[in-house]
Amino acid sequence: MDRHYFIANLKSHFTTQDSENYFEELKKTISNIDTKRNTLIFCPSFTLLELFNRKKREMNLPISIGAQNVSSFGEGAYTGEVFAGQLQNIAEYVIIGHSERKRYNHESDEDVMKKADLAKNAGLMVIQCIQDENSLISDKVDMIAYEPPSAISTFGTGTPDDPEDVERVLEHVSKRAGGKILIYGGSVNPETIKNYSSIRKCSGFLVGSASLNASEFLSLTTSW
Ligand code: PGA
Repeated sequence: MDRHYFIANLKSHFTTQDSENYFEELKKTISNIDTKRNTLIFCPSFTLLELFNRKKREMNLPISIGAQNVSSFGEGAYTGEVFAGQLQNIAEYVIIGHSERKRYNHESDEDVMKKADLAKNAGLMVIQCIQDENSLISDKVDMIAYEPPSAISTFGTGTPDDPEDVERVLEHVSKRAGGKILIYGGSVNPETIKNYSSIRKCSGFLVGSASLNASEFLSLTTSW
């Protein structure tokens, strides 16, 4: 039976109290989820990683924790940066190359490639977002998330991508980058997910807005 991946990209949301509430909701609903088949990865802001790890331990939850970003530099005099080694014990996964970081923080492909190298060397599982089928892909990544910017719910049109387009792109990417786990992201929610779950190469979803409510996020696992 194939394993499926559901990644909650919580973006720049949640105070510590919001996070506590989120875990209360998670605890209530997670027992209904097949967590052997579905890998649930929660990616909060850096400041909440410790709290998410503590909650996971205290509540004994079968979930994984990831970061939303990592520095393109190693340890050193880089004010405001978080280097890969600092994530080692508080994140299993890290997202790199998200189109919001490219748009608002002007990250280049070169930055993304450096992040992939540093994160992999630090032992993190790397999830690289790509915006189209020809995007540069690092051979250091474990998972590739195809996320056309036009489909991101909080960007411009926020139009869910045509499933045929997703299928075509994932087929193409799987030929370019064999052996990687391929997932899709962009306006994935309980209504749209069914359009994508029959796509052969699609092993999961990167979810933004619909991950902010714990029960809604977990309900996505039953749509497969
Ligand atoms: P969305 O965001 O699910 O709100 O479209 C996805 C993402 O930006 O990773």
